[in-house]
Amino acid sequence: MRKQADESHPDLHAALDHLMEAGGKRVRPTLGLLIGNMLGAPLERSVTFGAAVELLHTATLVHDDLIDGALLRRGMATLNARWSPPATVLTGDFLFARAAILAAEVDHLPLMKLFSETLATIVNGELTQMFTSRGLINRDNYYKRIYAKTASLFELTARGGAMVSPVSDDIVESMRDFGYQVGVAFQIVDDILDFNGDQNAVGKPLGSDLLNGLVTLPAIYYAELNPDDPDVLSLPNGGWTNNENMNRLVENIRASNCAKKAMVEAEQHVDRALERLGAFDPCPERDALENLAKYIVDRKI
Ligand code: IPE
Ligand code: IPE
Ligand code: MG
Ligand code: MG
Repeated sequence: MRKQADESHPDLHAALDHLMEAGGKRVRPTLGLLIGNMLGAPLERSVTFGAAVELLHTATLVHDDLIDGALLRRGMATLNARWSPPATVLTGDFLFARAAILAAEVDHLPLMKLFSETLATIVNGELTQMFTSRGLINRDNYYKRIYAKTASLFELTARGGAMVSPVSDDIVESMRDFGYQVGVAFQIVDDILDFNGDQNAVGKPLGSDLLNGLVTLPAIYYAELNPDDPDVLSLPNGGWTNNENMNRLVENIRASNCAKKAMVEAEQHVDRALERLGAFDPCPERDALENLAKYIVDRKI
């Protein structure tokens, strides 16, 4: 990943170093590598694919933080906190391009096509979220959103790890679903952490989804249980732009058991993922995938 900025403008080099330094959990490449190793993929291919996916993820975060005006990521200042918007946009574009080069180096045309389709899904999802989802209290819309912004990339990663391995289509499908279920659970937990996480641990600004008009699963549960709460009623009519009301709503949701209900739903997706693993012979990679799926709901960061 670091090599991708060699021979580029020194500022791009510095930006990529800064992003790499901050680390991140690297959950996606871990998922792809474990699946590739379990299924007998050539290491070179799954490493290259893992780097492509992580670089794509990093590029989406660079643009996402600019869009959200977020100043903190992975416990460090974001690029948009230090640079102008044009420089941030261009850095994101550069990372997208380098991610595509890495994906092409995997030398698997159907996988390359899925890689591009996934990026299109993510971008379409971000635009839909921006223009039509704000203030909307709707489960179906919520699930579509989290598929687009997060689960689609987990799905691609897991599917890709299987596609570069010598296995049947059934196994590829099984791993695709494993990635999908883990990805859905991952975003539900991200949305729960926005309400009750420890900001120092999470390393990014919390409590901001509702203030941005994003009604996530804990808030959906709260709205279902408290349909007459004036703050809930105000949401579809732009009430989320009122900071004072939204801070009160966030407090009420924190004090409720709605995060717990959302967590139960995340755990159901992890269970579905674990069922998929049950079909494979025991091996260290299978154990690690099981731990990874469980970590998704236990994580504090
Ligand atoms: C952040 O993803 C964006 C979401 C999809 C929630 P991660 O939580 O995987 O971010 P890093 O890479 O570990 O920083
Ligand atoms: C980020 O979505 C997902 C993408 C970059 C596509 P969020 O805005 O919810 O992620 P965080 O909370 O900033 O990590
Ligand atoms: Mg964001
Ligand atoms: Mg979030």
